[in-house]
Amino acid sequence: MSETYNLVEATMKVIQDRRSIREYTDEPVSDQDLDMILESARLAPSGENAQPWRFVIVKDPATRKLIGALAGGGSGRRFTAEFVTKKMQERFSSLQDEEKKKAAFQKLTSGQVSTFLAAAPVNIVVCGRKDVWDLPYDTSAAIENMLLVVTALGLGACWVIAPCIDIRDEERIKKLLEIPEGIKVISIISIGHPTRPHRPRPRLPIHELVFREKWAESYYEEPA
Ligand SMILES: Cc1cc2nc3c(=O)[nH]c(=O)nc-3n(C[C@H](O)[C@H](O)[C@H](O)COP(=O)(O)O)c2cc1C
Repeated sequence: MSETYNLVEATMKVIQDRRSIREYTDEPVSDQDLDMILESARLAPSGENAQPWRFVIVKDPATRKLIGALAGGGSGRRFTAEFVTKKMQERFSSLQDEEKKKAAFQKLTSGQVSTFLAAAPVNIVVCGRKDVWDLPYDTSAAIENMLLVVTALGLGACWVIAPCIDIRDEERIKKLLEIPEGIKVISIISIGHPTRPHRPRPRLPIHELVFREKWAESYYEEPA
C-alpha cells in the first residue's frame, strides 16, 4: 500500500473516530498534548489569512465551575425555546417510548446537558477579533483541527456553544476572563480523557446531501 494511501486511511480513521465527549476522568491533559492541539488551531485556514482566533486556556476549577453554570443556563434556555416552539417534539417524533421522551425533554430543558464544562480538566475558550468578517468560519476551521488532533491523541472533546449564544452570558465570560472589547467569544472546547468509548451519532446518507451540477439531481444513487 502506498504511503499516501496510508495517510488518507489514517486521516479518515481520525475523522470517523471523533465523537463529542462530555464525560472525563480526573486525569489531566498533558502540556505536550495541549501544545499539539493548539498548534493545530494555529495552522488552520482563515479568510485572507487573517488568523483572527485567540484562545484562553482555563484549567482553574473555580473558573470552570462558573463557565459550566453559564453553559447550563444557556443550554436550558435554548432547549426550552425548542420545546415551547414544538421543534423538540418534532425532533423526537420517532421515539415511541413516552417515558423516555419525557425524560429527554426534562434533561434538555434543565440545561444540565452542557454543565460538563465544569468537570473537563481543560476548557479552551475560543475567541476572535470582531473586526474580521470571516471570524465564525475561521474559528470553526481552527476548532475542527483541534477536535481531530484531540481524537488522534486518544483524548475527548466537545464543542460547546451554549454559554456563548446569549450576549449576556458572553459578557459574563468576557468579564470573568478579562477579555477586552473588540474580541468576541465564539465557543468553548472541553478537553479531557474520556471515561468510556462512545457510539457514533447518526449521519444523513450521502445521496441526500450532494447534487449533480444543479440541485434537482442527486450526485449519488439512492441505495435500493
Ligand atoms: C457549532 C456547534 C455547537 C455545539 N454546541 C454544543 C453545546 O452547546 N453543548 C453540547 O453538549 N454539544 C454541542 N455541540 C456538539 C454537538 O451536539 C455534536 O457535535 C452533535 O450532536 C454530533 O455528535 P458528534 O460530535 O458526537 O458526532 C456542538 C457542536 C457544534 C458543531
